[in-house]
Amino acid sequence: MRLTTPYDRVAYPTTMFAQTHPERLAVLARLAGLDPVPPHQARILEIGGGTCVNLLSMAAMWPDCDAHGFDLSSNAIARGQEITDASGLANVTLAVEDICEAHERYPAGSFDYVIAHGVYAWVPDHVREATMRLIAHCLSDRGVGFVSYNAMPGGHVRQIMREMLFDAIGEIDDPDARIAAVRDFLEAYARPQPDDEPLAKTLRQQAESMLKRPDAVLFHDELGPCFNPQRLMDVAAAAAESGLVFLTDAGRNRHLDGFLPDGSALPDDPEYAVLLAASRDDYASLRYFRQSLFAKQEPDRVIDATRIAGMWISTKLKRLDDGAFAQGGDSINIADEDLAASIARVAAVYPQRVPISAITDNPEHLRVILQLFVEWYVTLYPGPAPFPAEPSDNPCASPLVRGMLGLGETMLCTLDHTVLKIEQPELRALLMAADGTRTIAEIAALETGIPPEDTHAAIAACCSKALMIA
Ligand SMILES: C[S@@+](CC[C@H](N)C(=O)[O-])C[C@H]1O[C@@H](n2cnc3c(N)ncnc32)[C@H](O)[C@@H]1O
Repeated sequence: MRLTTPYDRVAYPTTMFAQTHPERLAVLARLAGLDPVPPHQARILEIGGGTCVNLLSMAAMWPDCDAHGFDLSSNAIARGQEITDASGLANVTLAVEDICEAHERYPAGSFDYVIAHGVYAWVPDHVREATMRLIAHCLSDRGVGFVSYNAMPGGHVRQIMREMLFDAIGEIDDPDARIAAVRDFLEAYARPQPDDEPLAKTLRQQAESMLKRPDAVLFHDELGPCFNPQRLMDVAAAAAESGLVFLTDAGRNRHLDGFLPDGSALPDDPEYAVLLAASRDDYASLRYFRQSLFAKQEPDRVIDATRIAGMWISTKLKRLDDGAFAQGGDSINIADEDLAASIARVAAVYPQRVPISAITDNPEHLRVILQLFVEWYVTLYPGPAPFPAEPSDNPCASPLVRGMLGLGETMLCTLDHTVLKIEQPELRALLMAADGTRTIAEIAALETGIPPEDTHAAIAACCSKALMIA
């Protein structure tokens, strides 16, 4: 009999995290000269994964991988199991388990990727220590571990906010009432005052951004019983004690944190040199979140962009009439027109991936592509996309998508490891009908609500949203 945890009282809205994806981890490990196991046939463990939909999405993408996940919350794992069963995912095992006791369940070296997202800084010291030990215990020699955590020095700012929030809730225990009290406080506090000092401005911005979070995230991340933001140096020291080396960081603009610039002479202690530089950057930017990667083998620390030559690329960048590229609110220029034209061709087939070897072997281009990857304007992969560009004669939607639809979920996991909200009843019916047993003509004859003559185009659109496996 297990105790009920706060995550059983209020469900955490677990989702997918691109930065935890073994494909990204494999790309970064290969950049460091390591030889990670190809993700499509890897053994993956997710620690404290909540419902583990992040893991289920990986398992749906690669039926040949072996995916295991666990969490202390039995409600979260029960929901994850419902989704697994409804999707018929045969390569997933989920368990209710405590990090501190998980050693016995998982033999040493039994995983190629171990992911702990959103756990490390939100648990007591002994659980945090056990988390790093477990990652080291479970990782294979070629393995890559992922640990995200609230970082310092931004964590100090969050500590100040936390003290104010705890004052605001006082003795209130009911979750809804706690959240309401915190929202009232934040709304008042976020209003700028004419005589605000810089620190007060920063705190008010934090309040503003907290107000945008879902209730359950506020309840757990800001009002949970443990909040222990970490210094990168301390996390790396804990990893080293367990026999792991710091590889780099999986977050946007941080992929080069584990590397020295091209052509650098190796210092006596390369790992310390990169950690020191990254820590200084944390202090300069008041960083509050990190997503550190660890490995068992020593990486090459000097960056070498030619290592991406054998990889694959996709991009959502849109080329504008003036030749610049846009993504979200950002606009960027690629000075070399040959490369710009190639990137535009890659963008035109998104979400499909293109081998980098098909667009360039020019080392200068590879350096620019690597920088675009670091800034998250392009994504690099170890291999091709596991979803088709065009529907087959008997189109088949991802089993996970159909399983989630069957359970009434609207936030669905694509085969590109992103979240897609699908509410339209016609599209939901179409995806359920596309189970690989019917031709497009047979699907068109069903009353999905989509006009029969539009069925082919609708299924093709599902392919272009990475929802189809055939
Ligand atoms: C903030 S949530 C993160 C969930 C998910 N990884 C995500 O990022 O969305 C923290 C998770 O860690 C789990 N957790 C906390 N302590 C744990 C322990 N000792 N053993 C296993 N899971 C634990 C909680 O139940 C919760 O699901």
